[in-house]
Amino acid sequence: MTAQKHMALAALVQGTGAHPASWLQTDTQDDASTDIEHFRRLAQLAERGRFDIFFIADTPAARTENLHAWSRFPMFMNVLEPITLLAALAGATKHIGLGATASTSFFEPYNLARQFASLDHISHGRAAWNVVTSANDYAARNFGLDKLPPHDKRYDKAKEFVEVVEALWDSWEDDAFVNDREQGLAFLPEKQHPLDHDGVYFKLHGALNIARPPQGKPVIIQAGASETGKEFAARTAEVVFASDPTVEAGKRFYDDLKGRMAKYGRSPEEMKILTGLSVVIGATEAEAEDKYQTLQGMIHPDVGRMRLATDLETDLSDLPLDEPIPEHRIPQTSNHHRAYFDHIVRMIREEKLTLREMCMRYERGNVTFRGTPVQVADHMQAWLDAGAADGFMMIFHTMPGGMRDFIDQVVPILQQRGLMRTEYEGSTLRENLGLKRPENRYVAG
Ligand SMILES: Cc1cc2nc3c(=O)[nH]c(=O)nc-3n(C[C@H](O)[C@H](O)[C@H](O)COP(=O)(O)O)c2cc1C
Repeated sequence: MTAQKHMALAALVQGTGAHPASWLQTDTQDDASTDIEHFRRLAQLAERGRFDIFFIADTPAARTENLHAWSRFPMFMNVLEPITLLAALAGATKHIGLGATASTSFFEPYNLARQFASLDHISHGRAAWNVVTSANDYAARNFGLDKLPPHDKRYDKAKEFVEVVEALWDSWEDDAFVNDREQGLAFLPEKQHPLDHDGVYFKLHGALNIARPPQGKPVIIQAGASETGKEFAARTAEVVFASDPTVEAGKRFYDDLKGRMAKYGRSPEEMKILTGLSVVIGATEAEAEDKYQTLQGMIHPDVGRMRLATDLETDLSDLPLDEPIPEHRIPQTSNHHRAYFDHIVRMIREEKLTLREMCMRYERGNVTFRGTPVQVADHMQAWLDAGAADGFMMIFHTMPGGMRDFIDQVVPILQQRGLMRTEYEGSTLRENLGLKRPENRYVAG
C-alpha cells in the first residue's frame, strides 16, 4: 500500500451541476440526469483530473408538494438510482472511486451489504458508501412512515445498521472460495461465518451470498454535523464530508472530529475529512464574480424561498421578499440538517438580510469561492496548511463545464505544488486514499 501524501479529492456529481439554475444554462445538456453516456464522460473526465471519488448523492423520493417551485429546480426529481448508475460507470473507468448515498432509515442491511459488496467486486475495489440517516419526511413517506423518526433515534438505528453490514461483509474469509476442481470443492465451509444478530432494529441469521469485497469493506463515508452525527462519524467513518464556511470553523470541526476518534480505538489517519468547496473560475476575479452573479440572478425567487424554508423547517410563503425574516418565525429546534439550520439562523440574526437577499446568498452551508485558477489553488492550499481539511469535496455549479475548468486550470497548479497526485498510486480506492484494508474480524480474532 502506498501512503497518501497529497490531498484527497471527491466530486459531488449531479447531471447538469449543483446550482439551482444549472439546468437553464445553454452549455448543459437538458436530459443529462438520466443519460448514462453523459455520466460516463463525466466519470472519465474526473479520472483524467485524478479525483479519488466520483460521488452521487441521493434521496429516495420525488417531491409531491410545492411543485410550482420544484418545477423550477428539479433536484432529485428525475435521477438514475445511484448504485445502478455506479455499476455502469465501473466498466467505463479504471481508477476512480465510486461513491453513493444509501439511507440507514430506509434500506435493509442485508440488501445494502450485498449491493455494495457487488459494486466493490464489479469495480475491483473502488466502492464507497455514504451512510446517511436521511433528512426529509417526503422520503420517509415512501417507506411506511408518516415522518422521519427523531434525530437521535435515526442515528441509533444507523449504528446498528452499520454494525450488521460490516459483519455481513466479513461473513466469508478472503480465501473462502477456492474453486478447487481437483478436490471438487468450490469453497471451504469453515471459512464461512454466518451472522447471528438479534438487535433493537434488526434481526438476521445468515451470510452474504457473495465473497468478501476486494477492499475488505467498501470505504465508509459520512457527513453528519450534529453532536450525534460527529460521534457516529468518529466511530465508523473513513471519509467525512464537512461543510464549514471558513478555515477557522473548518479547523474547529476537524480537530473536534479527529479528537473523538481515540475513544473508539482509532487514529486520526484512519479518517480523511473532505470539506465542501464550490468554485467558479474566471480568467480574472471580476470575470469569475460576473459568472457567479449571472448564475445567482437566475435563481427563481420561489426556489430561493423554498430552499430556505426547507432547511429552516418552516413555511416562509407568506413573508414579503423585501423584509427580514422576523425572529419569532425561527423554529425552536431542528430535526433535519442541523448545520444548514444553524447557518440560516445566523444569517437572520447577524446579517439581518431581507428574505430576497437571503434567497440569493444561501448555499446550504457553503460559500462559492470565486477567483482565478491561482486564487482557487491558494485557497485550497490555505485550508490544507491550516490543518482544516485532508482534501475537498468539490461541488461544481455546472457540468461538465465547471469540472472541466477546474481540471484544466487548477489541477495542474495543485500538481506542480505537490498537493495533488499526477498518477493513481494504487488499484483500489482504499489504496489511493491511503486507508488500510481491514482484516476479517474472524481471522483477526
Ligand atoms: C457533501 C454532503 C453530501 C451529502 N449527501 C447526502 C445525500 O446524498 N443524502 C442525504 O440524505 N443527505 C446527505 N447529506 C446530509 C448528511 O448526510 C447529514 O444527513 C446531514 O448533514 C445532517 O447530519 P446531522 O443530522 O448530523 O447534522 C450530505 C451532506 C454533505 C455535507
